Amino acid sequence: MRLEWRGREIEIRELGQGPALLLIHGYPLDGAMWSAVSRRLSDRFRVLKPDLPGRPDNPAWPDGSIESYADFIQSVAAAAGEPFGLVGFSMGGYVALALMKRRPAAVRALALVDTRAVADDESVRAKREEAIAILRQRGVEPIAESMLPKLLASASIARRDLADRVRRIILRQRAETLISDLQAMRDRPDLTAFLSEISVPTLVVVGGDDVITPPAESEEMARAIPSGRLVTIPGAGHLTPMENPIAVEQALGDFFGSALGGAIS
Ligand code: MLT
Repeated sequence: MRLEWRGREIEIRELGQGPALLLIHGYPLDGAMWSAVSRRLSDRFRVLKPDLPGRPDNPAWPDGSIESYADFIQSVAAAAGEPFGLVGFSMGGYVALALMKRRPAAVRALALVDTRAVADDESVRAKREEAIAILRQRGVEPIAESMLPKLLASASIARRDLADRVRRIILRQRAETLISDLQAMRDRPDLTAFLSEISVPTLVVVGGDDVITPPAESEEMARAIPSGRLVTIPGAGHLTPMENPIAVEQALGDFFGSALGGAIS
């Protein structure tokens, strides 16, 4: 699907047919992080995995706010047709929650994958500033090296093909885009109180060894959402959709199959 947004032509990758599922990627990645999961989900759903602004498929200027990323996702959703199933991974989860807050009726079911509702505290904000300074001075490469051990569980890092794929995705991002992501995450509001207002079926997925958004936070989030359910993927770190796409597809497929009615072909 092609979309015009803020004067730029944007390619939205999509595959499959059926109820629409919109997958939002995290930092410092792009929509390709969903490749394996989306191939499997496309047996049952029309899967859209847009790149957020400033990335290979999306030349729009990334202006450093989660709200502006949510504006973009709202336009994708409007072009795809509402209502839809929404999946947000980590920073994509921050965008998904922002969209839920402004357009709850557009979303029929929600999955929050390795993400959180709490805002950054002072120490996390300071780390964002450090990463911004590194990106300004030395570019993306040191960020790729420092992020890999945080994104992947140690057993996943040992899988050379997986680690190389993640590294390749990070290295093709521009420094200005990642700076925008860091500013957006740093400045986002705390949405913990909003969780109790989510009225659609919601699945929370977390890697058992996630060190960026730890399982305890996901457990709390699932408890705070009235129709929240938690699935933990043992052995995976933060990047569960790439570390264990079969388990993530199964969890999402079962959940959205009953929430949206995607038939198994
Ligand atoms: C992400 O995976 O999108 C980010 O690491 C999340 C974060 O840093 O808060």
